[in-house]
This record gives sequence, structure tokens and C-alpha cells, in this order.
Amino acid sequence: MPFESLKPGLENILSATQFSVNEKLTRVCELLQTSIPVYNWVGFYLANKAKKTLHLKAFAGAPTEHTVIPFGKGICGQVAESNTNFVVEDVLAQDNYIACNIAVKAEIVIPLFKDGKNIGQIDIDSHTADPFTKKDEHFLEWVNKKVAEIL
Ligand code: SME
Repeated sequence: MPFESLKPGLENILSATQFSVNEKLTRVCELLQTSIPVYNWVGFYLANKAKKTLHLKAFAGAPTEHTVIPFGKGICGQVAESNTNFVVEDVLAQDNYIACNIAVKAEIVIPLFKDGKNIGQIDIDSHTADPFTKKDEHFLEWVNKKVAEIL
């Protein structure tokens, strides 16, 4: 995957003065979804700690009805509580999984930390089985660190 080559474009989006925060998040999702063939859906959920819910703030790919996810529910809701990366090679093998689209075979969710607190996550769905490696995790941790700077 061309992770290193994507970093300058991502930094340009995040530092651009003409975009709102939501536009920046959407453009980051679009860049990842169009550049990496196995990233079929890319979204950012942000947490409402008081309500214990995750809210979809930006995405690229097919629209989903799961715009609000309670903590603990699905892969996303589990990461809201565990504060750790969750890489799912085969979504059908997961009991606590929320299906958005039957074409999805694998998913990766990486928590997004600001000032040491888990404030949301990047969520990626793939139509390819078992496509993610440690390199994806490290790259997406880098993306989240950069995104945290504008939140
Ligand atoms: N599959 C996720 C729900 C969000 S969609 O992938 C967009 C989950 O189980 O939490």
C-alpha cells in the first residue's frame, strides 16, 4: 500500500485554511477510500461521552444507516470502551458486529486520542477478506494523530 506517499496529501488537507473541520474529515476519508483499493468505506465517528454514543461525522463510500452507535455495540462500540485497535479479518466470525453492507468482509477500527482521551475512531470496511496488516494499523494511528490536531 502507498501509505508513505499519501501522507503529504493528508497533511495538506488537514492544514488547509479554506476548509471547515467537517470538510477536512470528509476529504481525508475520500482520499483514503479512493487511493487504497481495499478501503471500500472510510468514516470518522466521534464520541459523546455523556450519552455514551458514537456519531458519524464524515465518511466516504456507501451511505450507512448506522450514524449513531451506542458504546459497547458492534466493532465500533467495543473500541469506544476498549481504547485499542480492533482488526477483524472476517466480520461473519464476530458475534458483536453491526452489518452496514453485505459486501463487507473485513473491518478495522482504530481509536482516536486527543490529550490522551479516546474521543472517537476511524472505521474502515473492506470487501476483501483479511486485507489489513500492522502497516495499516500504524498508518491509521498516524492519520488519527494528525486528525486529533484539528479537533
Ligand atoms: N460495522 C460497524 C458499524 C459501522 S459500519 O461499518 C459503517 C460495527 O460493527 O461497529
